[in-house]
Amino acid sequence: MGLIIYLKIAPFHLFCMPIISASILSSDVCDLARQLPELCKETDWLHLDVMDGNFVPNITFGFPVIKSLRSKTKMFFDTHLMVAKPDRYFERFAESGSNLICFHAETVSESKKAIKAVKDLGCKVGLAVNNGIAVESIFPFLSELDLVLVMGVQAGFGAQQFIEGNIEKIKSLKRKIVSEKLHALVSVDGGVNGQNAKKLADAGADVLVIGNSIFGKGNPLQNLKSLKQMLSIR
Ligand code: DX5
Ligand code: ZN
Repeated sequence: MGLIIYLKIAPFHLFCMPIISASILSSDVCDLARQLPELCKETDWLHLDVMDGNFVPNITFGFPVIKSLRSKTKMFFDTHLMVAKPDRYFERFAESGSNLICFHAETVSESKKAIKAVKDLGCKVGLAVNNGIAVESIFPFLSELDLVLVMGVQAGFGAQQFIEGNIEKIKSLKRKIVSEKLHALVSVDGGVNGQNAKKLADAGADVLVIGNSIFGKGNPLQNLKSLKQMLSIR
């Protein structure tokens, strides 16, 4: 892993502002290729939600879309797998251009083995904690992880409202990471918007996954700039 990619996932406090990972779930995929060159001037990370209609009730996209996006940009691909038995596909997601592969622990039979499988492919690895799942359940694996994705909503759909109880998970996860001097980034996904972004960053989020507030309405580039401006007013 080159220095540039490492710096892209180094703890955000070095940069004073959380990383915004733009989630394309609410985007107009046909227009995305045109928007990417501008968007990537404002953020390095793109969040890719893969859903299979099985682990979650929704279906999104898979390898061909990721591969096609990879041919258009060098952005850091933060791939979030909401699929049953995702370890069947790690190799193909890595080949398609994912830099980081994040999955839900309850979708694999052995988390430790699955974490190693992602690392062996040369990708960064994350575990996702769905709404309703205790964050402590991933603590045994924390030292192996590059990122923990705390869901602010029940995984499956964009444009939902952040469930306030999940803020405590961010705080407790951050405390654990700091106290054990670990390197995992804390990411929050679902229901993040201009009203709560700063509060979530202050609670300990290093990465803010934002979909609807960027792509839902208006101009995605302007929306992203406004979100960054709100975050820098501290
Ligand atoms: C939800 C997805 C999220 C979603 C976030 O299951 O994992 O990544 O795109 O989108 P917003 O910002 O619309 O909540
Ligand atoms: Zn996601």
